[in-house]
Amino acid sequence: MKPLFITGGRVVDPARNFDDSADILIREGVVEKLEKELKQPPEAEVIDAAGLVVTPGLIDIHVHLRDPGQEYKEDILSGTRAAAAGGFTALAAMANTDPAGDDPSMIRYIYERAANAAAKVYPLGALTKGLEGKEMAELGRMKSAGAVGFSDDGRPVVDGTIMRNALQYACGIDAPVIAHEEDSYLFAGGVMHEGSVSSVLGLKGIPSAAEEAMMARDLLILKLTGGSLHLAHVSTAGSVELVRNAKAEGLQLTAEVTPHHLLLTDRLVKNSGYNTNTKVNPPLRTEYDRQALWAGLLDGTIDAIASDHAPHHPDDKDVEYDFAPFGIAGLETTLPLMLDEVASGRIKKFTLPLLVEKLTSAPARILDLPGGTLAPGSPADLTIIDLNREFIVNPETWYSKSRNTPFAGKRLTGAPVYTIVGGRITMKEGVVTENEKGA
Ligand code: DOR
Repeated sequence: MKPLFITGGRVVDPARNFDDSADILIREGVVEKLEKELKQPPEAEVIDAAGLVVTPGLIDIHVHLRDPGQEYKEDILSGTRAAAAGGFTALAAMANTDPAGDDPSMIRYIYERAANAAAKVYPLGALTKGLEGKEMAELGRMKSAGAVGFSDDGRPVVDGTIMRNALQYACGIDAPVIAHEEDSYLFAGGVMHEGSVSSVLGLKGIPSAAEEAMMARDLLILKLTGGSLHLAHVSTAGSVELVRNAKAEGLQLTAEVTPHHLLLTDRLVKNSGYNTNTKVNPPLRTEYDRQALWAGLLDGTIDAIASDHAPHHPDDKDVEYDFAPFGIAGLETTLPLMLDEVASGRIKKFTLPLLVEKLTSAPARILDLPGGTLAPGSPADLTIIDLNREFIVNPETWYSKSRNTPFAGKRLTGAPVYTIVGGRITMKEGVVTENEKGA
């Protein structure tokens, strides 16, 4: 493999508090040197990054790849291509596949299928067998096969004893548990946030309490068991407060937020004319919640940004609001949406280094993944960004098989222009190629 020399870019590496122009030399899939000015090896492939931003490879810790079982929505190849197109070098894949990812053979299957992919895939194992919430899955064997954490995401763990045992066991094998916080009795067949908009529209609502009650339970269990708990897609002001207080008490927990919960509210369900691409779980909440999510992200209560990429086939979404599946596809929009927020200056303290931290070092820390930094010796996973690139979200051009985004047609400023995985370019100017040597 030829060495890769990235020269003249603004390097932003929040893990080391680094934000300065520098050259980077990559050899054999590893960051060999990063210095203000390096001598260019004559045999190297060169990327002129003048005017561009170079960051550690972005990591998305919440992705649904639908493989195996629902490959008509997405598969490992299309999902990893979408990741590379969106600037991600690695992702963690949720286990709500068909069959569920509740067994070591499923973990191995994902690694095998992703071996030459355009982005690295880290499988998450199911917490319970068949995601049924009744019997704990074989976490230890899945961990040995390479599972990086455990979750029934898409479904809550209704039985508190199962959550308790899972947290206790996962603690013993040093693995995080990712919780999808939802009290299914309070959820009770709702399709959007419960509030004035759902009343006006005549749609069944999902109260904030459905999320908060379950989260409060799990935080109490965590106090009992110890271990490490990560909260997926936090969506309400009350949840942010619960996380803030639990962290202040010293509990070991982390939390993520999605771009759609940061940017949209339940009003869009009305204003879009019941567009089913606004239907997501947890639902889009109120402006009050949205502001609280930003406050939580800025003060460190919320650790990371994750897409919760939930691809669905257009036919699945082309039904009445009540019947559409929940989910928004986000791999190809997450970074541009967030860069656009930085560019706009709408959120005062939302700087580029903070955004990069939320998409690199924070997710790497949460799941204890390699990368998240450009420190010499790190894997050569990098993202190169053009902060001034303007484009319009057009799902028809996506690498993902899905099209389900409420952001279609949105004009944005800022986009990834290179994705580099293990020292190989997997996306250049929007064009994706697989990483032949293997991810
Ligand atoms: O909207 C969602 N879709 N939320 C989830 O938790 C699961 C996901 C899916 O798998 O479609």
